Amino acid sequence: MTGLNDVLLVHGGTPLEGEIHVRGAKNLVPKAMVAALLGSEPSRLRNVPDIRDVRVVRGLLQLHGVTVQAGDESGELVLDPSKVESANVADIDAHAGSSRIPILFCGPLLHRLGHAFIPGLGGCDIGGRPIDFHFDVLRKFGAVIEKRPEGQYLEAPQRLRGCKIELPYPSVGATEQVLLTAVLAEGVTELSNAAIEPEIEDLICVLQKMGAIITMGTNRTIHITGVDKLGGYNHRALPDRLESASWACAALATEGNVYVRGASQREMMTFLNVFRKVGGAFEVDEDGIRFWHPGGPLNAIALETDVHPGFQTDWQQPLVVALTQASGLSIVHETVYESRLGFTSALNQMGAHIQLYRECLGGTPCRFGQRNFLHSAVVSGPTKLQGADLVIPDLRGGFSYLIAALAAQGTSRVHGIDLINRGYENFMQKLEKLGAKVELPSTD
Ligand code: EPU
Repeated sequence: MTGLNDVLLVHGGTPLEGEIHVRGAKNLVPKAMVAALLGSEPSRLRNVPDIRDVRVVRGLLQLHGVTVQAGDESGELVLDPSKVESANVADIDAHAGSSRIPILFCGPLLHRLGHAFIPGLGGCDIGGRPIDFHFDVLRKFGAVIEKRPEGQYLEAPQRLRGCKIELPYPSVGATEQVLLTAVLAEGVTELSNAAIEPEIEDLICVLQKMGAIITMGTNRTIHITGVDKLGGYNHRALPDRLESASWACAALATEGNVYVRGASQREMMTFLNVFRKVGGAFEVDEDGIRFWHPGGPLNAIALETDVHPGFQTDWQQPLVVALTQASGLSIVHETVYESRLGFTSALNQMGAHIQLYRECLGGTPCRFGQRNFLHSAVVSGPTKLQGADLVIPDLRGGFSYLIAALAAQGTSRVHGIDLINRGYENFMQKLEKLGAKVELPSTD
């Protein structure tokens, strides 16, 4: 359900121009906050964005006795885990459905308290999003898991023990689960088929600062030697490469020019190559990246999403909006989430020509090809987009609707904009700063 103050009127047709600032990665910061639970001393996390996922984790940490306070600099949190305690199940349950991060509390709480309660998870509806890998992993460490009506209850009858784990798929969350559990487990853990996203590497940096012993080997293998105690950390979160790419796509689709202060080339190399192939221009300097539309037609491309270092699935949705403006047929094969193309039906209502297929188009067969999921798309362009009534389906899809509405002729009513606050800090202010014509509808 969305209320009136959850609707944004977007008057399209104006190029986005100017500068915005992107802070730490949504997909690292909440996990680094959870890591602080493992320490015996306070931790300092810098470059923290003010987004809902951070607020949810902050609330959950506080329920477990961790004090979380603002530090001296803007975007700094000081987390003190010296008085960790059990939380009331009803209080934890109040966070049910709010985010996917609570599942990562399992290992740290089992180490600190011997038990953990995990409420029903939230997160974007872009596929089934099961948590079987997480629980398989925790059982291997020696945890006992009981499903109760209000959530999952876990116990560690004795100290968790290191083990050998091979993930069925290089899952980001399951890799984080292993890292956050293995660092204080007894003995060595060998993880194969691990995710190696930049946010995972940054989490490893955080844990190493705390005293953990983690070696990244070749071929997606990670070795963790458990230690008896960890200290605190002082860390500046890596920048949000997903938010940066979203603004880049907004610049391209609106024929604009946006300097994203804070964007970092190293974590965006794959995106930048694709952006250039489509016909977008960019320039990297020490403080950020400028993205712009250089004029002339954009190029259709064939694209396949994949785990890092492939093209990140979270970049796919904003880029598809830009591809509606490219000349010719673009092919997009989504291989990470089975249902991340559903957002395109609203783009078609706006005038785009996007056809979805169950087959694996244009690339290597993936897990979804035999399973009847509409996970490939053919985008035919360029098409003029017209303003429409849009209901935001998920975080990245939601931002993509904003881009489409900004690129379109006429006015769009975008419903459910609050969802965007989960992962985009101050997006309304940023839009206004870039000259977007957006307004909240009047209430009279
Ligand atoms: N999977 C399973 N079982 C599991 C876990 C995952 O089958 O127990 C499957 C998923 O269904 C999916 C694939 O494995 O098909 C990959 O999922 P993964 O575990 O890697 O995703 P995640 O950890 O839940 C994080 C990000 C996502 C991002 C993915 C992939 C966070 C909070 N979320 O999700 O970010 O798309 O990794 O890089 O870190 C977003 O920012 O909008 C977003 C969805």
